[in-house]
Amino acid sequence: MSPTTIPERWVASWDNNLTLGQMLDEAGIDFMLPIARWIGYGGETDFHGEVLETVTWATALLAMTKRISVIATVHTVANHPVAVAKQIATMDQVGQGRSGLNIVAGWNKPEYEALGLTLPDDHETRYGYAQEWFDIVTALWTRDEPFDWDGQYFHLKHTYSLPHPLQGIPPIVNAAGSGQGREFATRNANFLFTPAIDLSRSVDEIVQLKRQAEGIGRSVDVLTFSHVVCRPTEQEAKDYVRYYAFDHRDDVAVSNLMRLQLAHAESFPHDLLTRITDLFAMGHGGFPLVGTPAQVAEGILKLHETGFGGTTLSFVDYNKEFPYFRDNVLPILEEKGIRLPNR
Ligand SMILES: Cc1cc2nc3c(=O)[nH]c(=O)nc-3n(C[C@H](O)[C@H](O)[C@H](O)COP(=O)(O)O)c2cc1C
Repeated sequence: MSPTTIPERWVASWDNNLTLGQMLDEAGIDFMLPIARWIGYGGETDFHGEVLETVTWATALLAMTKRISVIATVHTVANHPVAVAKQIATMDQVGQGRSGLNIVAGWNKPEYEALGLTLPDDHETRYGYAQEWFDIVTALWTRDEPFDWDGQYFHLKHTYSLPHPLQGIPPIVNAAGSGQGREFATRNANFLFTPAIDLSRSVDEIVQLKRQAEGIGRSVDVLTFSHVVCRPTEQEAKDYVRYYAFDHRDDVAVSNLMRLQLAHAESFPHDLLTRITDLFAMGHGGFPLVGTPAQVAEGILKLHETGFGGTTLSFVDYNKEFPYFRDNVLPILEEKGIRLPNR
């Protein structure tokens, strides 16, 4: 998640992912959530240019783990709903009910172009398409008999998808920022992701999102994403941030990432630009958890107090850094009662 040029940056190879997945599984971490990318952001590192495809990635991880949930991130426009319904059902069988689906309605214009598609300018079309797409997926997951579909975007004849997922409809994740996106998320998702840039704003935002869901008879949990640099001393943690995110920032990748985010998505507050640019260089805009184990735990407790139900965690080098977090931060969270001890 860090657009940095340091040679020891994370390499998202299958070997590294498998090592990580099995380590997280043993540590009792709840889930893994991947980034789905079709082309990178350019720059010296072509940041995100080599991420693995997420459905195949998740299925393989589910086969090689025992308890952790693994979510696939799927772009509605790049994946046909009949194919996705069966893919997720397959994942769910491989993982014995541990699959999940993160729906991305789309925002990244060059990526649309790489797929030979045009990003619709208006959010109504993007989310109108996503809604019909997801209605088809849920119909395929819940109906036993073949059916015809005659919608605005899809016309399907005698379609069905068996087997259904083991867990009925698997957990649905969505990370929309716009008004239309949030309507989509509160209508369809169980877990809604939103950046934690300014916690005083997040308090109201979370209340509002939950209320919006309750208004249509649903209940959603609001999660965020964080980036961890945890070291024995605060100075060591800060020095490392300076090293990878400031002195060795992939400037071109960061500015491309920022430009595309600000032009096409509304997930990040546009008025906090400088701060957000630094956060993107650190960990793709994630909430910074930088410092000693006690300080990192304190940051997570703050997210909890703000009303977030959970957070993802990223590291510059997951496999090297997660064990220190596991051994020194998780026990504090257990002691404070916001995390159950590992079984
Ligand atoms: C935690 C999180 C994960 C996301 N994962 C992806 C992803 O893997 N691929 C992607 O293209 N966009 C991803 N997004 C981007 C959101 O889906 C994006 O905010 C959305 O498409 C823009 O919605 P909006 O126009 O309603 O703000 C993610 C966002 C967040 C906060």
